[in-house]
Amino acid sequence: MLLGCSQQKSSDAVTPRPAKVRAGSQDPRRYCGMPGLSVGDFLRRPNDRDPLGVIGDRRIVYTYKARCGLGRLCRHWGWGSGDEILVPAYNCGSEIDPFLAYGLTVSFYRVDRQAKLDMDDLRRRVTGRTRCVYVTHYFGWPQPVETLVEFCRSRGIRVIEDCALSLFSDPQGHPLGRLGDAVIYSFPKSLAVPDGGALTVPADEAWEGDLGQKPLLRSTANAMLPLVKRSVLRLCDRVGVYRLLPEQAVRSRGARSQEALLTSAGLPEMPASYYYDRAIENLTASRVTRCLLRRTRRETVIRRRRANYAMLCDALQEAGDVRPLYPELPAGVCPLCLPVAMSDREAVCRRLNEMGIGAISWWAGYHRAFDWADHPEARWLKDSVLALPIHQQLGEIEMRHITAALRRALPGHRRAHTGTFA
Ligand SMILES: Cc1ncc(COP(=O)(O)O)c(C=O)c1O
Repeated sequence: MLLGCSQQKSSDAVTPRPAKVRAGSQDPRRYCGMPGLSVGDFLRRPNDRDPLGVIGDRRIVYTYKARCGLGRLCRHWGWGSGDEILVPAYNCGSEIDPFLAYGLTVSFYRVDRQAKLDMDDLRRRVTGRTRCVYVTHYFGWPQPVETLVEFCRSRGIRVIEDCALSLFSDPQGHPLGRLGDAVIYSFPKSLAVPDGGALTVPADEAWEGDLGQKPLLRSTANAMLPLVKRSVLRLCDRVGVYRLLPEQAVRSRGARSQEALLTSAGLPEMPASYYYDRAIENLTASRVTRCLLRRTRRETVIRRRRANYAMLCDALQEAGDVRPLYPELPAGVCPLCLPVAMSDREAVCRRLNEMGIGAISWWAGYHRAFDWADHPEARWLKDSVLALPIHQQLGEIEMRHITAALRRALPGHRRAHTGTFA
């Protein structure tokens, strides 16, 4: 059942009504960054069930990053020049670059302003060379994948489901990632792990070389440092010293990022690290990631994310120029973040980052090989969506802080209030 965030049934999830937030809160900074890693995470008892909770009769292949699974699929299915894949026009870029690296023609299909795929547009774009349709479940919300799979099967076209943003999402009791000819996941987007993705294929799909090479210990250790730092910052917040730390120590990565280059279409280019690097294709997830995955409390992650989402979404309804992309939270959806659309996103994001909030200008950069001129909705999403954190290590205090901070960060606040942004 679809419910507005403020109307959730108590059995559906923990959805307390937020306490009223004072717009002019004097609390300038709290740690509301990405999830961190602590010793306790390694000490939990491992779960018996499979960590993704969706596999059933599917084969799981661990990869170093989700994109490695896509490169390996191109190899496995023998795709190359002359083959075409249809991908959603709203994309990160890192998920489409493996196909370009293997010489495929990559064509966009339309998604609307809620990032829902447009089935009519997709049907029109299929050609005799189309081998595959790529579908992304954005932010935990499901696409109409049954209809898509039925359409594609009847034409001998494969479907890849992208669950990189939808780990643990189980809308209406149907876990995402059951139907595609292949499905990918990316763990660090939802969990405090140093690396790791997964590719699943039906169990009867012949698959060679499941093992992959382990990443170097040094790479794993380097990737763990920021995770540990986040836990230290969270601890500092708990004991009340976070607000005293120098700004350099607390600024999020987003706040430090450099000006983007421009693509030939004059759009800000995505970071260089998003382009595909075949050198990592055969790497697998580190031991540390697998150890942590087995110890992840799936139900807790889902419950906390849903509760935070409902709380923040409700509180934001009164906050002027901020529009949640999904005002409703369907049963079973495990939200990655709270995506809101707004004008002046970059300035708001910067101010939130200064206040300790790990807000992200979502997919602001563009892949240089495309110009997006025919896809205004995707451009609108890329230019206006801000992702607010609601993850499992945050709670009511942080949701209140984010609400108050957002109000202060919105354009017009300086005029409306005499105070500064602190
Ligand atoms: C929707 C989507 N799919 C796939 C990927 C690739 O994930 P990874 O960074 O694990 O390769 C990303 C990366 O941001 C993404 O946003």
